[in-house]
Amino acid sequence: MSRFYLTTAIDYANGDPHVGHAYERIGADAIARWRRLRGDDVQFLIGMDEHGQKVAQVAEAEGVTPQELTDRIAATFQATWDRLGITYDRFIRTTEAPHKAGVRALIERIYERNPDDFYEQAYEGWYCVGCEQFKRDTEIADGRCLIHTNRTLERKTERNWFFRLTRYTDFLRQLNRRPGFLEPETRRNEILALIESGLEDISVTRASLAWGIPWPRPLSTGETQATWVWFDALPNYLTATGFPEPGWETRWPAQLHIVGKDITRLHCAIWPAMLQSAGLPLPARVWAHGFALFKGEKVSKSSGVAFDLDAAIARHGSDALRYFLLREIPWDTDGSYTWERFDERYTADLADAFGNLASRVLAMLARYRGGVVPDAAETELDRSGADAVHRYGEAMDALLLHRGAAAAWDLVSAANVYVDRRAPWTQAKTGDAAGLDATLAALARTLERLAVLTWPFIPEAATKLWTGLGLGDAIPVAAAWERALAPQVAGLQTSRIPALFPKPETPAATPP
Ligand code: MSP
Repeated sequence: MSRFYLTTAIDYANGDPHVGHAYERIGADAIARWRRLRGDDVQFLIGMDEHGQKVAQVAEAEGVTPQELTDRIAATFQATWDRLGITYDRFIRTTEAPHKAGVRALIERIYERNPDDFYEQAYEGWYCVGCEQFKRDTEIADGRCLIHTNRTLERKTERNWFFRLTRYTDFLRQLNRRPGFLEPETRRNEILALIESGLEDISVTRASLAWGIPWPRPLSTGETQATWVWFDALPNYLTATGFPEPGWETRWPAQLHIVGKDITRLHCAIWPAMLQSAGLPLPARVWAHGFALFKGEKVSKSSGVAFDLDAAIARHGSDALRYFLLREIPWDTDGSYTWERFDERYTADLADAFGNLASRVLAMLARYRGGVVPDAAETELDRSGADAVHRYGEAMDALLLHRGAAAAWDLVSAANVYVDRRAPWTQAKTGDAAGLDATLAALARTLERLAVLTWPFIPEAATKLWTGLGLGDAIPVAAAWERALAPQVAGLQTSRIPALFPKPETPAATPP
């Protein structure tokens, strides 16, 4: 069994989860489920980024301590991920004592191995609290950060500890050129261009920040500063393995970091340089997905309200939102979503195509064969099925989740066309028993395939379908891919199941 350590970015604990956060967690969960289907020993890490000025400011505005704020927000995030069926193995919070100890150990390790990598310097620059980063002139327009146009930049003049990132320029160039380290290609080109434009050393401590991990060494003035929040957050992937306590080496490095395209630089320049400086193994692969845009706009406080995550889950259920986001928004680039598209896809792809196929096949098996799947030779539908499984596997391995979903739903369409063309009701009426057996057996095998292929996207419905086929209460994950390749349902006693994606009697009103 190969180990597959998968992580997502950890979310800032300064507000409620929104669709952008959900998109990343759902996509990573589909990948975790896919790797489990392939038989990997998956460790799936998610969590919260709880320190820094942004969190401290919100706590102050709400009149609570930062710890009270992050306790509350972390609980809300976790409850949301549970509702969405996110199968994380570990939920890390950067305020946990072992994480704080791990960050300090990592910093000390850099001091020991490469003492020149940290140095003191007075610095003056524009700080964006939204990004928790100093911004270069090229990243500022009209006095505001390009990403957080609703926030004012803060001028900071202070003496800090610096990390000598520039020393790693060649190393980072080689690393990011390595095929497969950073994908998709567009993001890799961006990082390579950034490296060519010249990296700068980075300030890694903050003078005025009370809500952070104390930097393990004081400045020459005797002052102790807090660790810059990204220097505290990035190591979560490492500290979650137990670092520096014994055993971490068996769990590190990560096979895959999933992050948004706005934080690629942090993951493909700063993080690998920190690890290299500390003499630690590097993550194998970074995937930078695009943005989920509501009506073409970035999720903001206002669009977060317009496409409220709780309302979106309540509208058609968790499976429907998972499917919709992963099918509608390409995993390798930006994509837009609206309530109307959500309703359309729910009705067309889930209720009419998938749900209807499942219920009509199980109903015909019950009506014509007492629920027992006949044993009959392969048909052209099985060949379409084998082809879909193949295309699906290639897409999922390449992390093109939208294509994986499309391959599965192509098979749904092929099966619905097959039903109409074979007209099993006519075969039954005319006494074509062999023909009817062939039709029903091919359809049952296709449903078995579809239960496996759709499980990373719509796990609840896929499991109900699996059960309806008489295959058991849960999909036997590590053995299921074999069943997608070679379905084995002949002789099983199937049963009818309630509609997987019921259509509302009266469609819910569409929010603005
Ligand atoms: N705390 C940092 C990450 C630290 S990782 C060591 C952070 N947090 S965040 O809450 O702002 O974003 C968390 C993740 O959600 C990021 O990967 C970000 O790109 C992603 N998304 C936030 N909004 C998004 C969309 N609208 N669409 C898709 N993902 C986006 O950054």
